Amino acid sequence: MTTQTTAQIDLGGSFTLPGTSMTLNRMGYGAMQLAGPQVWGPPRDVDGAIAVLREAVASGVNHIDTSDFYGPHVTNQLIKQALHPYPDGLVIVTKLGARRGEDKSWLHALSRQELIDGVHDNLRNLGLDSLDVVNLRVGGISEPTEGSIEEPLTVLAELKRQGLIRHIGLSNVTPKQLAEAQAITEIVCIQNMYNVAHRTDDGFIHDLAVQGIAYMPFFPLGGFTPLQSSTLDATAAALDATPMQVALAWLLQRSPNILLIPGTSSVGHLRENLKAAMLRLPSEVIADLDSIGGGPRQ
Ligand SMILES: NC(=O)c1ccc[n+]([C@@H]2O[C@H](COP(=O)([O-])OP(=O)(O)OC[C@H]3O[C@@H](n4cnc5c(N)ncnc54)[C@H](OP(=O)(O)O)[C@@H]3O)[C@@H](O)[C@H]2O)c1
Repeated sequence: MTTQTTAQIDLGGSFTLPGTSMTLNRMGYGAMQLAGPQVWGPPRDVDGAIAVLREAVASGVNHIDTSDFYGPHVTNQLIKQALHPYPDGLVIVTKLGARRGEDKSWLHALSRQELIDGVHDNLRNLGLDSLDVVNLRVGGISEPTEGSIEEPLTVLAELKRQGLIRHIGLSNVTPKQLAEAQAITEIVCIQNMYNVAHRTDDGFIHDLAVQGIAYMPFFPLGGFTPLQSSTLDATAAALDATPMQVALAWLLQRSPNILLIPGTSSVGHLRENLKAAMLRLPSEVIADLDSIGGGPRQ
């Protein structure tokens, strides 16, 4: 799609995080792609990264997903450089629980001190006095692993009581871990891997919708290996859309508690992705797309 203006884009409706006054347009933006290659160091094109962030917000995006371990620090510093002082209503969702090794690996950072330091890193690099939403990120690289999350979550709940965090979410968790977490503090959102081809969380998403909890899938476009499917291609051609737009529209129609954070380092891709919020998929098309991930799972 080549349209030069992004005005009047339908951002897919909105969703209010439970127990909060934060109403997010369902099409948001994920900032991880703004750092350098392998999410490490500065981007090749700093001005381009800043342009993506400004274009997103100018287009009505009011939900940006980030982390201080992207870069590390780089992505948050770019967000601050591009958008601070932040417009009213912009919600920045960050996450704690990981750090980067010197070899660019992704390591856990779930000790009490690492979590406290992580909050202060985010506050400093984003230029904020309190963080809107912090996801506690546990588990493996892209899949949850069962086990208690009580210890790190108790630290986050303490930081919330201190006013450094306003609301708490979880990332890379199972329904059992959510239940454990809800006995400790209120959980407003879940961020797990999910897309048209990876549907492990179908049943979980339904249960979250019943509870009014937001689900923000990471890798909505497949992440580091973007989605490739002949069904997506054929559907896109028939609808005069792109495969990525179809993948995003499918997510928006999948469940009303799904909020999107597609990542891109390109203004062109950003515009294309935002327009997916206006794409309506007929039910027979959805049935075809469901076959990509092996059909719905409950
Ligand atoms: N909680 C977690 O553990 C976790 C893990 C991973 C990510 N996340 C969050 O989730 C967000 C989204 O994930 P993601 O960015 O890794 O994956 P993604 O949104 O699934 O895909 C991003 C990839 O798709 C490409 N892309 C984007 N729009 C495109 C388009 N219209 N046409 C063709 N290619 C397109 C991007 O390249 P270009 O830059 O060239 O557009 C990039 O390579 C991240 O920004 C991050 O905030 C969280």
